[in-house]
Amino acid sequence: MAKAVVGVLTGGGDCPGLNAAIRAIVRKGIDSYHYEFLGLRNGWAGLLEKNTMPLDKKMLSGILHKGGTILGTSRTNLGKSSELLNAGVENYHKLGLHALVAIGGDDTLSVASKLYSKGVNIVAVPKTIDNDLDATDQTIGFDTAVTIATEAIDRLHSTAESHDRVMVIEVMGRHAGWIAAYSGLASGADAILIPEHPFDIKDVCKLIEKRRARGRNFSIIVVAEGAVPKDKDSFFTKDDKVDEFGHVTLGGIGYYVAKRIEELTGIESRTTILGYIQRGGMPSAYDRILATRYGIKAIDLVHEGLFGKMVALKGNKIKSVVIEKAVSKNRKLDKDFFDIARVFFG
Ligand code: F6P
Repeated sequence: MAKAVVGVLTGGGDCPGLNAAIRAIVRKGIDSYHYEFLGLRNGWAGLLEKNTMPLDKKMLSGILHKGGTILGTSRTNLGKSSELLNAGVENYHKLGLHALVAIGGDDTLSVASKLYSKGVNIVAVPKTIDNDLDATDQTIGFDTAVTIATEAIDRLHSTAESHDRVMVIEVMGRHAGWIAAYSGLASGADAILIPEHPFDIKDVCKLIEKRRARGRNFSIIVVAEGAVPKDKDSFFTKDDKVDEFGHVTLGGIGYYVAKRIEELTGIESRTTILGYIQRGGMPSAYDRILATRYGIKAIDLVHEGLFGKMVALKGNKIKSVVIEKAVSKNRKLDKDFFDIARVFFG
């Protein structure tokens, strides 16, 4: 009897831990359920173009600790028209797939949810360094990004101190300040500026001056790329271009903050943009384990025929939730967490 074929894809921005998830899905799927696997290349583009690669145990060898994704990724949006969505459904059948495991953030998984409503057997796995996907406590990639950002901020301390400067570090986080808040708290930042709380630059300057009055001659300010000052009503953007999901490329808030601090306080200020370094390289041990647990649960759901579900971390347990619920809204930083970080401002 022919074996059932399961497709796997990774979509959206890459992040450390994707390969660990792919490895777990395929290893358990072959060993326990005797599935065959087909990798779809470059996210939803792979389904649209029927661009596939075989995924067998040999392909999995040595990928656990590797960053990026062996399947490639893209921000192709099959959900932007019914023609594209129908083409996706048609190709799913033409490829002879029994099910599809989509590993992605809110954009990729919003397409997964639409395909599921058209009868495609989909299971989703949450990933994004931004950690802003609802219905799960954590996404793959977040822990590594926080670790990288924390190390970078630790390094900025010594140069800030040597020069008596204010160092502003801009980290990723479009709609939510998870990376900024976690790395800022872990590295003792004097202020953390996040999308959830529009900020007043004068308040930031007061924190810097308070610290100087205590005899500390340098300051570290962590700012999420999506943070917005109170007197401005939209993000700082690099240009007017938008991706297939309508997102602009953010950028500029870090320079704005340093410039305004210098203007208002007269203290020399510098900006570091951490950028894609946050998404590159080896996953942390935590992300490898989380991705592995997610991958195992995802293929179990396929085996049980529980489609339209996303695997999710709830406390320390891996559960499943409805994909549609996970993509219905962004997950903002917990207020309680920010209140803890705030204790150490200034
Ligand atoms: O995947 C999330 C993210 O890393 C955001 O934090 C960032 O704004 C965006 O991706 C960058 O996207 P791109 O890879 O398309 O430049």
